[in-house]
Amino acid sequence: MTKTNKRILSGITPSGNSLHIGNYFGAVKPQLELQHTAETYYFMADLHALTTIHDRDVLEKNITGVVLDYLALGLDPDKSVFFRQSDVPAHSQLMVVLGNYISYGQMQRMHAFKDKLQKDVGEESINMGLFNYPILMAADILLYKPYGVPVGEDQRQHVELTRDMAENFNKTYKKEVFPLPEPLISKEVGKIVGTDGQRKMSKSLGNTIGIFEDEAVIRKQIMSSFTDPNRKKATDPGTVEGNPVFLYHDLLNDDKSEVEELKSRYRAGKVGDVEVKERLFAAHQRYFAAARAKRKELEANLDIARDVLAEGARKANQFASTTLLEVYETIGIRNALNK
Ligand code: ADP
Ligand code: TRP
Repeated sequence: MTKTNKRILSGITPSGNSLHIGNYFGAVKPQLELQHTAETYYFMADLHALTTIHDRDVLEKNITGVVLDYLALGLDPDKSVFFRQSDVPAHSQLMVVLGNYISYGQMQRMHAFKDKLQKDVGEESINMGLFNYPILMAADILLYKPYGVPVGEDQRQHVELTRDMAENFNKTYKKEVFPLPEPLISKEVGKIVGTDGQRKMSKSLGNTIGIFEDEAVIRKQIMSSFTDPNRKKATDPGTVEGNPVFLYHDLLNDDKSEVEELKSRYRAGKVGDVEVKERLFAAHQRYFAAARAKRKELEANLDIARDVLAEGARKANQFASTTLLEVYETIGIRNALNK
């Protein structure tokens, strides 16, 4: 397959030590599919994780965990540039510049910050890293001048703010330094519901189904999932639409005829929740078997990941430092004295 010259970039924050199926279907899978058709840059947003993680051991473990998850799930270093944000200093450097092209008012309207403000006691508990998070994210994106940014629905606002910053910057200097990036968000899987059947699947809400955890953990997560709240016993006709367990079957179960059969038995009140979930657990094991095996291999030989990240950092630095110089030149920081 020939690749388009449309560059794609995305990042993931290692705020937990392992990905869940919401991350996978909402973000990782679409990102990995793009590897075949586009020039792709993917990175571990390790500096972004500092907004919530101030325990060095936890952070170290999370970064390794998520890097291995990505490689195990199919990130191909021959097709994508895969690197760590902190290995490319231009991310932090461009952030310092970009903060000057966005207003305080616009920053205050960002969801991540507003949600936290609602949940916590108040402004005193919000660190500036969290408040500035979207500026670092804009720097992450704009350095690579991508055409598209594949993310989950919850990141749309950040990509839109990035466009605003880019537009404002370009207008100020009357120069198309930054192409405006498109958020690439899949309609069907942009927002996968959690096992509580209410909110989006998220590690902070404890409503996830993991990928690489021990079988017993995954089984428990699946067995405790919410189904049709109006169905009291297995002989009651049940609703399939919007039922999280069937949503997961649609995503995970490669045996489509089994899924159809389960759905029609469920509608007719001819199958219990336990059987539907047991089959889901089996489907999960099949779907992720190869990735789970690959992850064990990578864990046993960390040099593989280390080499991939070193090579990724080299390529990313090359691209990013060129953009940073162009920006410095545009704004007047690079002049006759340092050229
Ligand atoms: P979490 O909410 O578990 O902390 P993150 O915020 O770290 O997950 O998200 C990592 C990536 O996965 C982001 O691109 C995000 O949009 C995507 N993502 C997270 N949860 C979901 C979900 N429930 N459905 C779809 N995409 C998701
Ligand atoms: N904010 C994203 C998340 O929580 C991670 C991220 C950081 C990102 N920088 C990015 C995603 C740049 C896309 C592009 O998942």
